[in-house]
Amino acid sequence: MVSQISPLPICILLLSTLSLQVSSLLLQESFVQCLNMNSDRTYPFHTTVYTPNQPSFKTILDSLAMNLRCLAPSVPKPEFIFTPSQDSHVQASVICSKKLGIHLRVRSGGHDYEGLSYVSEIETPFIVIDLIKLRGINVDTKTNTAWVQSGATIGEVYYKIYEKSSILGYPAGLCTSLGVGGHITGGAYGTLMRKYGLGVDNVLDALIVDANGKILDRKAMGEELFWAIRGGGGGSFGVLLWWKIKLVPVPPTVTVFTVTKSLEQGATKILHRWQEVAPFVDENLFVRVIIQPATSVTNKTQRTITTSYNAVFLGEARTLLQVMKTSFPELGLTRKDCQETSWIKSVLYIAGFPNDTPPEILLKGKPTFKNFFKAKSDFVREPIPETGLEGLWQRLLIEDIPLMIWTPYGGKMSEFSESDSPFPHRNGTLYKIQYLSIWQEGEKDVAKHVDWIRKLYNYMTPYVTKFPREAYVNYRDLDLGINSKNSTSYIEASGWGYRYFKGNFDKLVKIKTRVDPENVFRHEQSIPPLPI
Ligand SMILES: Cc1cc2nc3c(=O)[nH]c(=O)nc-3n(C[C@H](O)[C@H](O)[C@H](O)COP(=O)(O)OP(=O)(O)OC[C@H]3O[C@@H](n4cnc5c(N)ncnc54)[C@H](O)[C@@H]3O)c2cc1C
Ligand SMILES: *[C@@H]1O[C@H](CO)[C@@H](O)[C@H](O)[C@H]1NC(C)=O
Ligand SMILES: *[C@@H]1O[C@H](CO)[C@@H](O)[C@H](O)[C@H]1NC(C)=O
Ligand SMILES: *[C@@H]1O[C@H](CO)[C@@H](O)[C@H](O)[C@H]1NC(C)=O
Repeated sequence: MVSQISPLPICILLLSTLSLQVSSLLLQESFVQCLNMNSDRTYPFHTTVYTPNQPSFKTILDSLAMNLRCLAPSVPKPEFIFTPSQDSHVQASVICSKKLGIHLRVRSGGHDYEGLSYVSEIETPFIVIDLIKLRGINVDTKTNTAWVQSGATIGEVYYKIYEKSSILGYPAGLCTSLGVGGHITGGAYGTLMRKYGLGVDNVLDALIVDANGKILDRKAMGEELFWAIRGGGGGSFGVLLWWKIKLVPVPPTVTVFTVTKSLEQGATKILHRWQEVAPFVDENLFVRVIIQPATSVTNKTQRTITTSYNAVFLGEARTLLQVMKTSFPELGLTRKDCQETSWIKSVLYIAGFPNDTPPEILLKGKPTFKNFFKAKSDFVREPIPETGLEGLWQRLLIEDIPLMIWTPYGGKMSEFSESDSPFPHRNGTLYKIQYLSIWQEGEKDVAKHVDWIRKLYNYMTPYVTKFPREAYVNYRDLDLGINSKNSTSYIEASGWGYRYFKGNFDKLVKIKTRVDPENVFRHEQSIPPLPI
């Protein structure tokens, strides 16, 4: 005898991992075969399917995952990742996932706060269709429109518009690595929202792959479904391939500033005033507030709260100073605080790139934010009293890396009715709050941070919208409820459904029931069809 028989436990271990690999391999092979049968017979699909035993699997999975919390080893991983390079490949992947009975997730930019585009906690096995190769952008300055493909980042869209015209823009997100596919489906707000509304308010047409693998444009899908995909959230109605967007005029000179006030500098009073001003001021002015603890300048052993007024004004500094003098003198803005620039550079400024960064950085699709985090959102309709703010400061001071971002509404946002699109947070909304807890040490203390943010959320209850307590669908929050595997349950979904969509939720359910009765497109918070 040359070798010893392995002890039993190892044997079983080997066998079970081996059989797992085999079944994964079989699944992958069947999928590739099916793609060939349903698309281009000669396309080398095997080179675009990545399984966990290939080193590139992890690179691809990780590259677009913005919340590192969703990449932890304990979090379920896809059976394989497929990266289509043509629209027809997406059609084939929908058909094949149905045929083989494997659950599919779709990823565009990977910014989902709960990682729903690449993690399924409710179904195994699942696969990921990663649209990273589908990033076409065709800008037409004759009609001021553009066709943009789902895998493109919003930064690439801004850049391609700027390449053709420096006085055209598109009103969408501030973070330039957002994927067009997931971002626009949930609303898409940014610095132009008070002047032009949301991304979804400026969409003219779309191409989507439906539950039968067919490509539909606006005419073919009909106005109901076209309404649903403009704010009803990603991953519920089909795979978006292309959006046709409406470009909006931006002036040749815009002005940006960031002014920070700490508690010692009267931050509480100024912020209280901001609540009364920011939603009603000139709609060319977008001034958000970034709130976080910091070391006090006057006493290095003391922590304070800083409020940073981070703004873009569509116009020259001279005009901005007049607007501020009349509406918000409390901030004490001076000419020295203001920086005149172009709209494309204001995009870089607000995204947090260093001052002299060339716009070409937008073509690299580089994320500026990649962390472990848990986030939540709220909408405010009445100013929070100073005592409420003071209680908030106490809570921020006890957390490691807390962050809040307050985004002003009003202006154009109020001109849409609650049911014009599924996005219902319109007239009467003063601003939106985003709460974040960020950490950098992997799985350590996750429970502590999550617990902190939940308590903070409880504390805020009296100050924010009620019945329902509204939330932004693009700031996905699984605390608000999860569709279980049996996601035909309308009751489960109504937990988050009314918060994200208010009265529009019922209409979304009705449309979902008509267009995807078998619930092909589903995840923890997808719109459920009613049982047939
Ligand atoms: C750092 C950071 C900054 C942000 N800043 C903003 C901001 O300024 N403004 C704002 O409005 N939001 C912002 N968000 C939220 C962002 O809009 C959402 O996370 C959005 O869903 C991201 O889209 P994605 O394609 O990058 O994400 P993904 O994770 O790829 O997708 C999100 C969801 O949409 C689905 N989906 C993806 N692609 C498609 C498709 N082609 N068809 C159908 N469904 C699809 C996914 O399955 C998933 O359910 C920010 C998020 C992060 C992490
Ligand atoms: C600085 O802050 C610490 C902690 O709050 C306090 O104990 C100390 O007295 C302060 N020092 C001064 C000079 O104010
Ligand atoms: C918004 O609501 C206010 C208060 O209810 C109302 O006076 C105003 O006319 C509304 N604005 C729009 C554009 O509907
Ligand atoms: C799924 O939910 C529906 C509605 O709540 C229920 O009727 C059905 O029995 C459930 N199915 C399973 C398998 O639990």
